[in-house]
Amino acid sequence: MSLLKLDAATIKFGGLVAVNAVSFELNKGDLFGLIGPNGAGKTTTFNIVTGVYKPTSGTITFKGRSIGGTPSNKIASLGIARTFQNIRLFKALSVLENVVVGGYLRHNTGLMSALAYLPPSINETNRLKAEAMELLKVVNLAHVADVRSADLSYGMQRRLEIARAMATQPELLLLDEPAAGMNPLEKEELLVMVKKIRDEHGMTVLLIEHDMRFVMNLCEKIVVLDHGEEIASGPPSAIRNDPKVIAAYLGEAV
Ligand SMILES: Nc1ncnc2c1ncn2[C@@H]1O[C@H](COP(=O)(O)OP(=O)(O)O)[C@@H](O)[C@H]1O
Ligand SMILES: [Mg+2]
Repeated sequence: MSLLKLDAATIKFGGLVAVNAVSFELNKGDLFGLIGPNGAGKTTTFNIVTGVYKPTSGTITFKGRSIGGTPSNKIASLGIARTFQNIRLFKALSVLENVVVGGYLRHNTGLMSALAYLPPSINETNRLKAEAMELLKVVNLAHVADVRSADLSYGMQRRLEIARAMATQPELLLLDEPAAGMNPLEKEELLVMVKKIRDEHGMTVLLIEHDMRFVMNLCEKIVVLDHGEEIASGPPSAIRNDPKVIAAYLGEAV
């Protein structure tokens, strides 16, 4: 079943075409990679899917409904959640509290209302805390639930962002460079985690990643962007040997 479809999605910033007529489709249950050199338009693609920017032209369809230009505070309630390339946690809050805030977002329209949200009962709060604790187990952070998120290692903060995004119970999870800054062991663990999130939590995953080995080992389908253009798409085996992809990455310090 088609979950997310981009059809000639385009966004221009002044004279720069950051994403140029990009078309690809995710089916429910896909583990899908979006790759390309720096500045290729990957994060911007996430930004037009999640309503940070309205596409200049083209369509974005989620579960059969056109969502291009839907404000980002409504996107979570439609069933799409994301993490950010530059980690955005509530640094003064504990690890558990960060995930609980994500849970509030499921019922509310935006982050500000989530922060201002008064839980109707102790029971509701306890339920959200219990759910958050379960998500912390998924990303191996249950043992640091009470630690201030600012005090976590970089790799742990990235995993916390994933748990927080999952707390909105999305059907589609967008991960922007989840392995960035992680050591090889953390990357291995992350790979297993993301597979589990798809296999056991039923979420469809679209991820941006610079580590080629990570993407090739994890994703079943890949789209490659370069200068805002889609230059290749297919299974890792085809992408790996595509001369256009190799040329795009030449000179890049990967
Ligand atoms: N809000 C913006 N205003 C102007 N240019 C932007 C904006 N957002 C992104 N860009 C430009 O779009 C291009 C693609 O950026 P980005 O999507 O962040 O690339 P990446 O593939 O590395 O994630 C870059 O040239 C970037 O400078
Ligand atoms: Mg980016």
